[in-house]
Amino acid sequence: PLPAAFQRPLPVPAVLAPVRSDATADHYEITQQVARLEILPGLRTEAWTYGGTFPGPTLVARSGRETVVRHRNELSVPSVVHLHGGHTPAESDGYPVDLLLPVGSSADRSTWAAHADHANHAMPGIAGMPGMPGMAGAADRSRTVTGERTYAYPCRQRAATLWYHDHRMGFTGPGVWRGLAGFHLVRDEEEDALPLPRGERELPLMLADRSFAADGSFAYPAADATLAVPGVTEDYMNGVLGDVVLVNGAPWPRAEVDRAHYRLRVLNASNTRLYRLELDPQPSGGGALVQIGGDGGLLEQPIAHDAVEIAPAERFDLVVDFSRYPAGTQVRLMNRFGSGRTEEVMLFDVSSRPVRDDSTVPERLCTLERLDPAAAVATRTFGFRRSRNAGWTINNQPYEPGRALARTALGSTEIWRFFSDVHHPVHVHLNAFQVLSRNGKDPGPYDAGWKDTVDLRPAEAVEVLVRFTDFAGTYMLHCHNLEHEDMAMMADFVVE
Ligand code: C2O
Ligand code: CU
Repeated sequence: PLPAAFQRPLPVPAVLAPVRSDATADHYEITQQVARLEILPGLRTEAWTYGGTFPGPTLVARSGRETVVRHRNELSVPSVVHLHGGHTPAESDGYPVDLLLPVGSSADRSTWAAHADHANHAMPGIAGMPGMPGMAGAADRSRTVTGERTYAYPCRQRAATLWYHDHRMGFTGPGVWRGLAGFHLVRDEEEDALPLPRGERELPLMLADRSFAADGSFAYPAADATLAVPGVTEDYMNGVLGDVVLVNGAPWPRAEVDRAHYRLRVLNASNTRLYRLELDPQPSGGGALVQIGGDGGLLEQPIAHDAVEIAPAERFDLVVDFSRYPAGTQVRLMNRFGSGRTEEVMLFDVSSRPVRDDSTVPERLCTLERLDPAAAVATRTFGFRRSRNAGWTINNQPYEPGRALARTALGSTEIWRFFSDVHHPVHVHLNAFQVLSRNGKDPGPYDAGWKDTVDLRPAEAVEVLVRFTDFAGTYMLHCHNLEHEDMAMMADFVVE
């Protein structure tokens, strides 16, 4: 039986304190560990966590100051940390075979190499798919380490809602499903100067659907229950959906809100699920979800939406003015793409206590640089398709580490054209991009501002403008449906 909705108070992940700060950097430590969490009432769920909680602790970084995070792996499997939306040097970007092996497993490197090799030759669940070439020897790469790894993020980027999550080759889906995800916020002076809601009235909301077995454990339809081999069972080839909607790790929570403005930083951390978010009831006049930012930070001007569609890995920074509701109203956050229980997300109780609220949403939020299509030196096309014999592919190629589908020069601007068969949220590492067109027309209502993930609906073509800056090296683009990603819908690109 699923838990009753709107019982649990909304948890807000704790902000991690640095272990030390110096003139230019803040240093953090996170231990990846198994934790037994009470997600469903009265039951314990064994989770893989950053620091013992799901979501992991929130990191708050300051634009221009380096963030250095030392991760210690006390799990029983290798891990890889990626800062999603981070403008990050390649060696800290979480390349999928740059493994962090569990503490104490140095003697066993060959075990992981054997696992990787096994994965190379057998992927049940992908009929006829020739495994994942390049997995063999992954654990011998020079960037594989044991026990601890330090990731350095220069944070030469504007304020935005980023998140960190596992990115291990072939196992991102089960890793994130079991809890390896957290917020990483970047703040800057431009944003601080705006009169936006803050403090208790700024809420990060991580949406993630999950399924549970009767004993409370996470149910994930891995092709191989021991996770020695990537992939899911045939029924889940399109991706894994859960029947419980979690917000910040709690099923269908509730939050009491003042009659005031709130900033909701919404992240879709689901493996596959898309949401169409809407408040119910809508305040009279509509336009209740005022978007102030996207993946890559503030928009130039707010956009008032009645509903927001959010694909996996996308972020929408929304302001809701709950003073538009009478005190005592119960406002449900709905998912109009869901059905049955997945149509509900959480509940806001509008309180009657008198409050003061100085926050507003200015008409103009910032000035954005527009990338110029005329400056593009190349146009490349990437087709996201399931291929008859190679599983989920980009340009018919299953992922192979080290095989680049594109080579670009540092500093250059390019037009990248993505097209799809079925639904694919497409993510590019290193630099955010701007959507230039959708199906030959103007960008859609949810494409504004700087983005790092763009939602491709079935049989769509989307063009984005991207400029590669600051860091040379090997990066990835991939589908952020995590099952598609794990089943090879990923490619390297090299910035030279
Ligand atoms: Cu959030 Cu390469 O992923
Ligand atoms: Cu996909």
